[in-house]
Amino acid sequence: MVVKNICCLGAGYVGGPTCSVIASKCPEIKVTVVDKSVTRIAQWNSEKLPIYEPGLDEIVKARRGKNLFFSNNIEKAILEADLIFISVNTPTKTFGNGKGRAADLKYVEGAARMIADIAKSNKIVVEKSTVPVRAAESIMNILKANNEPGVSYQILSNPEFLAEGTAIQDLMHPDRVLIGGEETPEGQLAIEELCSIYEHWIPRKSILTTNTWSSELSKLAANAMLAQRISSINSLSAVCEATGADVSEVAVAIGLDSRIGPKFLQASIGFGGSCFQKDILNLVYICESLSLPEVAAYWQQVIDMNEYQKTRFTAKVVQSLFNTVSGKNITLLGFAFKKNTGDTRESPAIHVAKTLLDEGASLNIYDPKVEESQILYDLTHPSICESPEEVKKLVKIYPDAYSATNGAHAVVICTEWDEFVTLDYREIYRSMMKPAYIFDGRKILDHEELINIGFHVQTIGKRLPRPLSTRMWSGTAVV
Ligand code: NAD
Ligand code: UDX
Repeated sequence: MVVKNICCLGAGYVGGPTCSVIASKCPEIKVTVVDKSVTRIAQWNSEKLPIYEPGLDEIVKARRGKNLFFSNNIEKAILEADLIFISVNTPTKTFGNGKGRAADLKYVEGAARMIADIAKSNKIVVEKSTVPVRAAESIMNILKANNEPGVSYQILSNPEFLAEGTAIQDLMHPDRVLIGGEETPEGQLAIEELCSIYEHWIPRKSILTTNTWSSELSKLAANAMLAQRISSINSLSAVCEATGADVSEVAVAIGLDSRIGPKFLQASIGFGGSCFQKDILNLVYICESLSLPEVAAYWQQVIDMNEYQKTRFTAKVVQSLFNTVSGKNITLLGFAFKKNTGDTRESPAIHVAKTLLDEGASLNIYDPKVEESQILYDLTHPSICESPEEVKKLVKIYPDAYSATNGAHAVVICTEWDEFVTLDYREIYRSMMKPAYIFDGRKILDHEELINIGFHVQTIGKRLPRPLSTRMWSGTAVV
């Protein structure tokens, strides 16, 4: 079979960009991305796409209506497809057995049942969602137990490694594509079919094929190892603050060791995003289920260190502001979990905001890409607050950094947006309450310059001197 028709179940952060790139690189293949959500599909078909991702608009506009389609007609797309990607969400379970840790596979199962109910011809079904090891077995069981006579399936694992904010770049030039499948002749044939799609733009040597379980586990392992590096450098940032070492200097020094390498050593307010925490919790749960409690505890520590870092940073904000932020105006610059995305899932800014609100602060928030409705949704969620009305009174969203910082007691940098680096901090200092504080949770600002302007500055993993004007009043030069 030569794949001429692809269907993708799930038009989210993965399904949308991945299939847009496939459509752009394989003009002879019809790619239809379907979703249960009518609103999401309408947005994909509109001028304003549901997600912000640099380079995505151009690709969608070039291919939409030609060989790229967004639709709610799931039945038609499944019937037509030779190959179906499952790109649905796999959130952490919020109820029952494994609550708070195991992956909730109800959407994957729902997708498999839809395929089994609808398909009338053979399909290659590709797990693109991040799933626990051996999830393909469950999908196969559902498909086999419900299939139409004469219809056969091959299940492949093809986890996605894109990062948000660089998704198009990552999809165009991936470090590798990973495809896992059965070691039978039919399984190998299905792997070849999927390879031939990627080979439109990715050299064969960058396409790695493995058995299904290795592929599934590699995705969890990659995220766990990446997050582990961040927790490691964040743990060292606490040592730096206690000793006078500078975590950026330490990161450069260790990163120059080619065995360690320089990437993912940026100490921060803590990692966020929809994947790291969810996937590590899933790994921890799998290890416990396999009676490997020591392994589970090892990976759990990566999450615990991340919680510690978020809490440590926010406690520093409160402590520096004379141990009380009640009635104070604090500006959060950035709300997304990283720059170049409007995504706020598990954003550390939510933790900072919640703690400051609990302490009685009023918050001014500005983010270049996160909608006001999303910020208010996140901060009034039942897991975050008991009184949404109170939160709405205490939180104001601003259209730019200058209006957001006007009259504030302190500024907290929560996301490393480039535009925050080049703001006129003299102007911001003039408009703020004095003493004026900046807490740089992303280590992106010129701290020396800010101190010269008169700011009290705190950051991660480095002790900074007080502004000159205040030093004569204190025996110690450090804030
Ligand atoms: P998402 O929540 O943005 O999108 C998932 C979409 O699937 C939703 O729009 C939902 O309505 C839809 N859906 C659910 N069940 C469906 C069904 N039966 N039929 C049709 N549509 C259905 O999720 P996402 O961020 O795109 O993540 C998808 C998967 O990819 C997850 O397993 C995630 O762990 C993994 N992943 C995500 C990223 C990332 O950066 N977001 C990166 C790599 C892997
Ligand atoms: C991650 C993985 O990188 C990607 O391969 C996988 O497919 C999905 O999960 P994503 O969550 O989109 O991607 O972004 P990533 O760049 O990994 O950043 C995650 C979080 O870690 C962000 O909050 C980021 O600010 C933080 N981070 C990243 C650090 O704090 N320090 C670093 O050095 C790198």
